[in-house]
Amino acid sequence: MLMEWSPSLSVEVGQIDAEHRGLVNTINELHDAMLHAKGKEVIGGIIERLARYAVHHFATEEKLMQEAHYPGYALHKAEHDAFVKKVAHFKEEFGQGKVMLTTEVINYLKDWLKHHIMETDKKYTQSLHAAGVH
Ligand code: FEO
Repeated sequence: MLMEWSPSLSVEVGQIDAEHRGLVNTINELHDAMLHAKGKEVIGGIIERLARYAVHHFATEEKLMQEAHYPGYALHKAEHDAFVKKVAHFKEEFGQGKVMLTTEVINYLKDWLKHHIMETDKKYTQSLHAAGVH
């Protein structure tokens, strides 16, 4: 397993932790598919799922941050938007056969998610809790 969920990744909001676990699982699935040299269709399908899951998760978080009037919303959303763009670009290039899924790409996804949860997501916990979201 490439990435393991641990309590240190918790943002102390149930729905968000559940979605983060989903993202971790999907990145692990992608890693497994690469290790087992799965075909382009299988890997493409997982990339597609990851892209859609990320969009869904970011929408959840952004709604909660807005409802809580979280002051760091704009900067946080900019990080989401940049990631979505990057994954969409990779998905397109992969689909066209211009790039391969490599360890570098997988590590980028893993490191981005871990860093984003630890350094960016965790900052909203207090605001969400104050708004009654747990
Ligand atoms: Fe959990 Fe800001 O993404």
